[in-house]
Amino acid sequence: MKGLFITATDTDIGKTVITGAIAAALRDCGIHVGVIKPLASGGVVNADGHIQSEDAVFLAKAAGIPVEKWAQVNSFCLTPALTPAAAADQMGIDIDIPNLIAACRNTSQFYESVLIEGVGGIAAPLWKEYLVADMVSELNLPVVVVTGPQLGTINHTVLTVAYAKARNINVAGIIMNKWNENAKGVLEESNMEYIERLTGVPILGKFPVADSVSVSMGQTESLAELAKLNLNIERIIHIIEGSNGNE
Ligand SMILES: Nc1ncnc2c1ncn2[C@@H]1O[C@H](COP(=O)(O)OP(=O)(O)OP(=O)(O)O)[C@@H](O)[C@H]1O
Ligand SMILES: [Mg+2]
Repeated sequence: MKGLFITATDTDIGKTVITGAIAAALRDCGIHVGVIKPLASGGVVNADGHIQSEDAVFLAKAAGIPVEKWAQVNSFCLTPALTPAAAADQMGIDIDIPNLIAACRNTSQFYESVLIEGVGGIAAPLWKEYLVADMVSELNLPVVVVTGPQLGTINHTVLTVAYAKARNINVAGIIMNKWNENAKGVLEESNMEYIERLTGVPILGKFPVADSVSVSMGQTESLAELAKLNLNIERIIHIIEGSNGNE
């Protein structure tokens, strides 16, 4: 399989927005791209009474996946807003990791490339001691780390990249989300500079805060345009083309 795994320095940093933005831009370039959120927590009950992941709906819309195929985007969704391992414990259910990996591989067969969104950060437990990093290793896809421009980001980003490298994970790039070009100052500029210098990983873009984008409202319409303006889509395509995920 060809694709990217999107992680972040923390929860709520913008994995879903950035994954959706990349998906929308790739689709705009004529690439048949699939999106996967293999495991989600904090699911909401939809009009039909099913537990649904807002992330999965947002990703599916961004990638233009028809509604009848939305089930392929997310195979397992838990309701407690906890790390999946704890959410499953609370619900008294087991998470079948081999089944999740098989679902990713199965979905990937239908697309030229897939974008897989993780959960929380790279060391978040999915089930017992099985972490997001273990899933990345099993899938063997390059990783993009989404980070933010706020105080403390250097530490979070450097630690995330160092942990990934220690696990032999290929960190292909960093994307700075919620960047405000008009309000940037010494804090934001120096954060950016240090992150690049200390990680040695290329910054693939600075994505702006956009009122037109909302995960909970499923607002995806402006994503392709924003991605093309603010992300290095050419380089991202190149990384995906060079990937060789385990089938
Ligand atoms: N660039 C942006 N412009 C506007 N809103 C944004 C942007 N990035 C993220 N948000 C908002 O911030 C919140 C967190 O973003 P997002 O859901 O993408 O984070 P996440 O890392 O995927 O979180 P989780 O760990 O829950 O999956 C969401 O409400 C989203 O709509
Ligand atoms: Mg998300």
